[in-house]
Amino acid sequence: MRDCHRELSLWMEALGEQIRIDAAGNFRAVYPALELDAPRLLIGSHLDTVPNAGAYDGVLGAVLAVALLEELHGRRLPFAVEVVGFSEEEGIRFGTPFIGSRALVGRLDQGLLDLRDARGVSVRKAIEDFGLNPEKIPEAELERDTLGYLEFHIEQGPVLERLNLPLSAVEAIAGQSRLEFTFLGRANHAGTTPMHLRNDAIAGAAEWIGFVEHLAQSVPGLVATVGTIEAKPGATNVIAGETKLTLDVRHGSEEIRVRAVEDLIRQASEIAKRRGLSVRERTLLSQPAVAMNQFFVDEIEKAIVKTGCPAHRMVSGAGHDAMILAEKVPSAMIFLRTPGGISHDPAESVAREDVEKAIDCGLHLLDQLAASPEFYKRTNRA
Ligand code: GLV
Ligand code: MN
Ligand code: MN
Repeated sequence: MRDCHRELSLWMEALGEQIRIDAAGNFRAVYPALELDAPRLLIGSHLDTVPNAGAYDGVLGAVLAVALLEELHGRRLPFAVEVVGFSEEEGIRFGTPFIGSRALVGRLDQGLLDLRDARGVSVRKAIEDFGLNPEKIPEAELERDTLGYLEFHIEQGPVLERLNLPLSAVEAIAGQSRLEFTFLGRANHAGTTPMHLRNDAIAGAAEWIGFVEHLAQSVPGLVATVGTIEAKPGATNVIAGETKLTLDVRHGSEEIRVRAVEDLIRQASEIAKRRGLSVRERTLLSQPAVAMNQFFVDEIEKAIVKTGCPAHRMVSGAGHDAMILAEKVPSAMIFLRTPGGISHDPAESVAREDVEKAIDCGLHLLDQLAASPEFYKRTNRA
C-alpha cells in the first residue's frame, strides 16, 4: 500500500495539490479548479485487493482518475477533482468491507475500529501501525462542497463482452450479506469412532454447503458463496470438532437476499440439530442494494455515445465504494468490459483500447458536467 501511495503521489505531484493519506489510509489528492473556492468532484476506486488477485480490480479506477487529469493537459475546470484511492474495500483482512470509504461518510465507527484480523490485530491498531492516527478519522469525511463521486471499474463479469460493448453506465449495485458460521461438534479419533457415534463438524458444514449451492441455483438471480472453510483441530486422523465458514449472498432485490439468508441460517441449525452439532452465526455485513444517481447515469450514457459506442446501463453484482458514497453524495460508475469475465484471479485483464475509450468517455463527462447547471445544484453543502 505504501508503494502504491508513493506511485500515485509522484503522478499527482505533477498535477495537483493537497496530497495526503487520510486517517483511514485513503489516498487523497486535489486537482485544483479554475477558481479557489470552487466545489469538488471525487473520482477514484480502491487500492486494496483479494488474495491471488488480478491487477485491475480497484487499482484501474484510481489510475484512470489520474490519467483523466493528465489528459486535461493543465486545463482547469469550474470544479476541482479529488482523486481518491480507498484503503480497504474488499473486506479480506477484517471480514467487513468498505472500511476506507466508510470514513468519508462518517461511518468508520468504534464497532468497526474494534474488528480484529486473524492474528487479533484490530482495525484501530492496524491504522496506528501504518503511522496514522485513528482519532483523526473525522477529518477524512467528505467536504461540504462535494458535488459527487464517480468510479471507473472493470465489470468483473461476462455481460459487456457478450454484448460486444467496451463500456457501460452502472444504474444500481446489488445488495450483499456476509456472515461467518461456526459448526461445533466433538473432536475424536478417526480410527476408533464408529460412523454413527460421531459429531463431525466438517461433515455437517459440508451438507450445509451443498444446500447453499442448491438454494442459490433454484432462485433466479441469487448468488451464494462459501468462500472460506477452516477446520479444527485440522489433522488427517482427527474428526473435526469445529468448522468455521464464510457465506456471501447477493441479489438485486432486498427481500430475496434477506429471505435467502434467513433460509440458510434456519437450514444450518436444522442440519446441526440432526447431527448433534451446534451452530452459531455472526453477520459481518448486510448492505442493501443501492441505486446510482440518475442524473449521473444519464450523463455517463451520453458520454459513452460520444465515444462512438452504444449507450448501455447495467446492475453491478460486485460491491463497490460507490454504494457507500451514494449515502451522502450523488454517485455513479462506469464499467469497462472484462475479457473472459474473469476477476478476483490473476487472469483478470482489460483491453488497452477499452481503457482509451474510458478516458475519452471521462473527458466528455467532465466537460458535460462543467457545462451543466444541474450538476452544481447537487452538492453535499445543504
Ligand atoms: C468486491 O469485490 C465484492 O466482493 O463485491
Ligand atoms: Mn474486488
Ligand atoms: Mn473492486
